[in-house]
Amino acid sequence: MTPTVAPFPAARLRRMRKSPAMRALSRQNTLTVDDLIWPVFVMDGKDDETPVASMTGVTRRTVDRIAKAAREAQDLGIPAICIFPYTDMSARTEDCAMAWDPDNLTNQAIRAIKDKAPDIAVMTDIALDPYNVNGHDGFVENGEIVNDRTVEALVKMGLAQAEAGADILGPSDMMDGRIGAIRRALESAGHHNVSILSYSAKYASAFYGPFRDAVGASAALTGDKNTYQMDPGNSDEALRLVQRDLDEGADMVMIKPGMPYLDICRRVKDSFGVPTYAYQVSGEYAMLQAAAQNGWLDGEKVMMESLLGFKRAGCDGILTYFAPEAARLMRAQS
Ligand code: PBG
Repeated sequence: MTPTVAPFPAARLRRMRKSPAMRALSRQNTLTVDDLIWPVFVMDGKDDETPVASMTGVTRRTVDRIAKAAREAQDLGIPAICIFPYTDMSARTEDCAMAWDPDNLTNQAIRAIKDKAPDIAVMTDIALDPYNVNGHDGFVENGEIVNDRTVEALVKMGLAQAEAGADILGPSDMMDGRIGAIRRALESAGHHNVSILSYSAKYASAFYGPFRDAVGASAALTGDKNTYQMDPGNSDEALRLVQRDLDEGADMVMIKPGMPYLDICRRVKDSFGVPTYAYQVSGEYAMLQAAAQNGWLDGEKVMMESLLGFKRAGCDGILTYFAPEAARLMRAQS
């Protein structure tokens, strides 16, 4: 419904914009630190950090450094952190066994964060790509990414993460049926309170490029992910995926990437009214940072404006590499 507007001069819409106070009073959407989930990269080793070349300000950290960073994030009020492992080529096999090893990098990081920063919620990623020789999210048989055998492996991976203490599991693989299978396994293992944030509408996007560098997957990937990730031309399909994942037991749903898919965020929120998240992915972060570094954009301002856009589109939260910087800025301004 479009509200009717009295004709000029009764309605001078600029009246409500005349001062910071009037603008604050009439502002519909705001960003707060509660909206942020911080994705981090964990690597092997001790007390070390290496920069990710294509993502200014982002580093891969060893487990002890991840725990320290989580503590800082907790102190900033960031409610959740999401772990992605950078695995050595030698840890990648055809059977992806490392994915459900109780001592793999992700599971070590979960335990270390729970120990050092017990109040921050720990989210994980469920997909085989960090442990797969060919870089795919599922098993490859005769050149095809197979669904059902992959789902069995994802269940084992999710259970190991829940055992290690994860609060939120994030299946990002786009196989069919994985949410239901993971939910059932969690229930029978007694993990009733471990929640699932499903990457429900995950598009086959070129914006994941810098991430694949960050986790060392670019070199490994053979072919593309078009047979399981969504076609960027589709919109209705996102609603079917969200409906399906909710029916199978997802607590929260995600749209990914973020900025080019704000229309999907809005449709999902309006259609279902469930906790809805967007992932402002590596390529979105990289392009804003690159422009800011060149002095072509005001980095702080575009960071905050882009994050606020997700709120306006109906999201309840945003996975963003900007999380600590945005949190610090909001703290400084409050
Ligand atoms: C892997 C996964 C990807 C991202 C999150 N989980 C990459 C992919 O699907 O190839 C991308 C995140 C980003 O670009 O920031 N399952």
